Amino acid sequence: MRTGNRQVFEIPKAQRLPYAKLAAFAVFVAAIASMMLSAGRGSDVRAARPAAQKFQMKIPLGLPADIWEHLVPPDNPMTAEKVALGEKLYFDKRLSADRSVSCATCHDPAMALSDGQMVGIGIELKKGARNSPTVLNAMFNESQFWDGRAPSLEEQAKLPLINPIEMGMKDHAAVVARVREASDYRPLFEKAFPGEGITIETIAKAIAAFERTQISGNSPFDRFMAGDRNAISEAAKRGWDLFNNKARCISCHAFNASLPFFSDFKFHNIGVAAKDQNFSALARRAQQILANDPDDVNKIDELALSQGFSELGRFLVTKQPRDIGAFKTSMLRDIELTAPYMHNGSEKTLLDVVKFYDKGGEINPNLDGGMRPLKLTEGEMDDLVEFMKALTSDDTRRRAQNTKPQTRAPLMNK
Ligand code: HEC
Ligand code: HEC
Repeated sequence: MRTGNRQVFEIPKAQRLPYAKLAAFAVFVAAIASMMLSAGRGSDVRAARPAAQKFQMKIPLGLPADIWEHLVPPDNPMTAEKVALGEKLYFDKRLSADRSVSCATCHDPAMALSDGQMVGIGIELKKGARNSPTVLNAMFNESQFWDGRAPSLEEQAKLPLINPIEMGMKDHAAVVARVREASDYRPLFEKAFPGEGITIETIAKAIAAFERTQISGNSPFDRFMAGDRNAISEAAKRGWDLFNNKARCISCHAFNASLPFFSDFKFHNIGVAAKDQNFSALARRAQQILANDPDDVNKIDELALSQGFSELGRFLVTKQPRDIGAFKTSMLRDIELTAPYMHNGSEKTLLDVVKFYDKGGEINPNLDGGMRPLKLTEGEMDDLVEFMKALTSDDTRRRAQNTKPQTRAPLMNK
C-alpha cells in the first residue's frame, strides 16, 4: 500500500477542504483504499439514488467514486434519459436569443470544455469580462463561478441563459417558451421528468445531470500516485516537490484523496486584478447598483461579467471589503489544455503564471498573506510547469483531439 508520494496524505488539518469534513475520516481512508485498489482501471459507480433508473458512471483513475456519488443531489438523481436530455440542451444554440451560441460555444469539448479565449464571447460577439473555466470536474466545486455566486450546477445553469452578453434570453419564461416550441423536446422531458414537464427547473436539472458526467481523471500524475513511479518525468517529480514545499502552491491548491482537484475552493486575492483598479470607488458604485436588493442574483451576474465591476470578485457576493479582488482557487486538472489563465485570461502560458507567483503576485491592500516572492530558479519554474502538464487526462486530451470545434451560427437579425 504505497503511493507514489506519501507526502500528500499528510497535509496539515488546517489545509484540508472545508467540505471534506462531510466525508469524515472513514470515507477519507476508504477513498485512499479505493484509489489504490483501482490503480490502472478506474471504478464504476452504480445508480446514485434508489428511485433513479440504474445509471452506470465510469469514474476514471484518481477521482473519488464515493464523493462523486455523494455530490449527486437527492432531488436530481442521475438517469440515462436525463443525461441525454441535458447533453442535447447543452449543445443547443436555440437556447440563445439569436440562436448563435450554446453552453458548448464557451465550454467546448474540443477545448477541454473551455474556449481558448481570454474572456467568454456570447451572442452578437459580445465580450464578457471573465475567462470561461472548464466544466470538467465542475461538479466537485464547492460553489460555482470565479466568485462562487452560484451554490450548485443547477443554479449556475440558469444564469448564462439570461445574461445579456452570454445567451441573452429575455427571462426564464422566454427560455421555457423556446424549448416548448421545439417539438423534439416534449417526449424527452416526459421520459426524463415524468409528469413535471418543461420548466426552468427541469431544464437546469437536466443540464446539471449531464455536467456530472463530465469528469476528468486518468492523468500521468494519477498513475504516479497509484504507484507507477515512471508515469511522470523526473522534472515533473521535482515540480511536485516544489509545488508542495518551496513554491507553496499546495497551501491554496489543496490536494487530498477525497478531493484530488488542487483547490481549497476558497477565495484569495493574489493580485491578478490589482493593476489599474480603483477598488474602493468600484465597490461603492457596485453597492449603489445593488442597493435595492443586495442579493439580486441576476444583477450580480451582470456585474460579474462587466468591465471593472468584474474585478471586485468575491466582494460582489459577500459585500465584505476583505473579499475585494478575491477569486476562487482554480482546480488544476487539465490546466495545460485551458489557456489562457486567471479569471480575466491575463496570463498566456503556464510559465507566465509561475512567473507571476515567483514575483509574489501583484501588491495591493487585500493581497493574500500566503503570497510572497518565491525566488525560484528558471529550472525550478520549468519543473513546476512540467508538473502541471502531468495533470492532463489522457481521455480529455484524446477527446479534444478527436472533436471538431464548435462553430458559431452566423449572426442573425433579431
Ligand atoms: C459566452 C460564453 C459562455 C456561455 C454561452 C456559457 N458560459 Fe459558462 N461560463 C462562462 C464564463 C466566462 C464563466 C465564468 C464567469 C464567472 O465566474 O463570473 C462561466 C462559468 C461556468 C461554470 C462555473 C465553473 C466553475 O469552475 O466555477 C459552469 C459550470 C458553466 N459556466 C456552465 C455553463 C452552462 C451549463 C452553460 C449553458 C447554459 C454556460 N456555461 C454558458 C462562459 C460561458
Ligand atoms: C494564496 C493562494 C494561492 C497560492 C499560494 C497559489 N495559488 Fe494559484 N490560484 C489561486 C487563485 C485564487 C487563483 C485564481 C486567481 C484569479 O484568477 O484572480 C489561482 C489561479 C492559478 C492558475 C490559473 C488557473 C486557471 O484556470 O486559469 C494556475 C495555473 C495556478 N494558480 C497555479 C499555481 C501555482 C503553480 C502555484 C505555486 C507557485 C500557485 N498557483 C499558488 C490561489 C493561489
